[in-house]
Amino acid sequence: MDFTVTTGATQPEPPKVPCALVIFGVAGDLSRRKLLPSLFQLWRQGHLHPATSIVGVARREWGDDAFRDEVRECLSEFAAGFEVGSDEWASFAARLFFVALDLEDAQGFHRLASRLAALSTDGQRYVFYLSTPPDAIATVVDHIESAGLASSPEPGWHRIVVEKPFGHDLASSQALNARLLRAFREERVYRIDHYLGKESVQNLLVFRFGNTIYESIWNRRYVDHVQITVAETLGVETRGPFYESTGALRDIVQNHVIQLMATVAMEPPSSLDARHVRLEKVKVAEALRPIAAEDILRGQYIAGEHGEAPVPGYREESRVAPTSTTETYVAGKLFIDTWRWSGVPFYFRTGKRLPKRVTEVAIHFKEPPLALFRDCQGTPCRNVLAIRIQPNEGIALSFAAKTPGVSMDIATVEMDFRYDRAFRQPLSDAYETLLLDVIQGDSMLFAPAEMHDAAWRVLTPVLTAWAASSAGLAFYRAGTWGPAEADELLIRDGREWHSL
Ligand code: BG6
Repeated sequence: MDFTVTTGATQPEPPKVPCALVIFGVAGDLSRRKLLPSLFQLWRQGHLHPATSIVGVARREWGDDAFRDEVRECLSEFAAGFEVGSDEWASFAARLFFVALDLEDAQGFHRLASRLAALSTDGQRYVFYLSTPPDAIATVVDHIESAGLASSPEPGWHRIVVEKPFGHDLASSQALNARLLRAFREERVYRIDHYLGKESVQNLLVFRFGNTIYESIWNRRYVDHVQITVAETLGVETRGPFYESTGALRDIVQNHVIQLMATVAMEPPSSLDARHVRLEKVKVAEALRPIAAEDILRGQYIAGEHGEAPVPGYREESRVAPTSTTETYVAGKLFIDTWRWSGVPFYFRTGKRLPKRVTEVAIHFKEPPLALFRDCQGTPCRNVLAIRIQPNEGIALSFAAKTPGVSMDIATVEMDFRYDRAFRQPLSDAYETLLLDVIQGDSMLFAPAEMHDAAWRVLTPVLTAWAASSAGLAFYRAGTWGPAEADELLIRDGREWHSL
């Protein structure tokens, strides 16, 4: 189906302010693949103040020039439209600086402070982006604070961005939060979850609250259940040690899945102010019912195929224990005990080494009260609204239609909105949106501490039970849709996973 796009007024961009963006862990994968390419795109599109400084921090023997060479390499690989000889690269490169630093070395942070002061002739505004292992965060915050870098004479600055996972259970998340808040006020803390910066996730807010017709059916009266799938084809790649201490529940469910769920289930906020939007999501997370043991299961991939190619099992991956019980797959059922959602199951599944990379939220509506029409398989017609988060970002609504001909035969058809067809321009990367939001001081797409606490409150008992016994860890072949037990979870409720 073709869509006519009628564009509304664009929001005016807030005035640009110069600041120094300090990336701890700049030599890591996240910086190379996402942060630096996103900053470059923001730069070339003119979203950053010309006096913005980007300061890389890592334990490398690099000077500014060597760092610029490294950034040039990673932009050639990961930044669309990058050209070495371009003016935009020359001007961006001139704003790149490097400070060699061991995160354990408190003195090094004083050197960092002097460098930042020398770079900040337009006022002291710093953003500290902690792209570091989770267990280094508290130390980095200690050193930032003792080097006098936690607050600025400029109101609202400095700011800190903390990557997920935020803690590894409820107690550690609360401790981490308390540590952050001793140094930074809440409005200067940005707990990042890159899913919230995806265009298709932001569009969920527009879809729900920028249209009239869905609101009246967006509740337990019309919705039978919701399915959230976050499927990846990749294995753990080079991240063995990180993944061993994390697993799928902490890596994806505690943050991405619960954020998607909260965005689907939240009440309309009274404004788009960060405080109101975040509050409505927290209310959803706080209404999550504790998960019954039989409503959640974990799996781990064994050797199989990725496309045609054979791939090893999780236990054979580099730097993974040969007896590891870390889960690479989780499926479960959650309930939100609110007036709107009482009794509506929210099923979720996520896994590595599945056959397709696809993230989708599917709203399955109830069957019509009278089964006047049955489709050719003899099952009653049912509407499904599939919100494709990625790839092929868009929204499809399936519904019953009469097939052409003299008999009253019914088929399921789809109305399909696709971003690429409707807008014919590439979607920006989530990190572009989120980095710009931090610089502009907009925390709407960032999680408050209460959101993490509420998610951990529900998931920590599951993690504790799993740590106590490996019983119930199911295995699935790489390249398949996960363990058979995940199908059972729905079959016993008379449902099945939406085919993807
Ligand atoms: C990250 C996880 O948060 O999200 C990774 O740590 C995962 O394990 C990634 O691969 C998936 O992100 P995306 O944007 O590719 O869906």
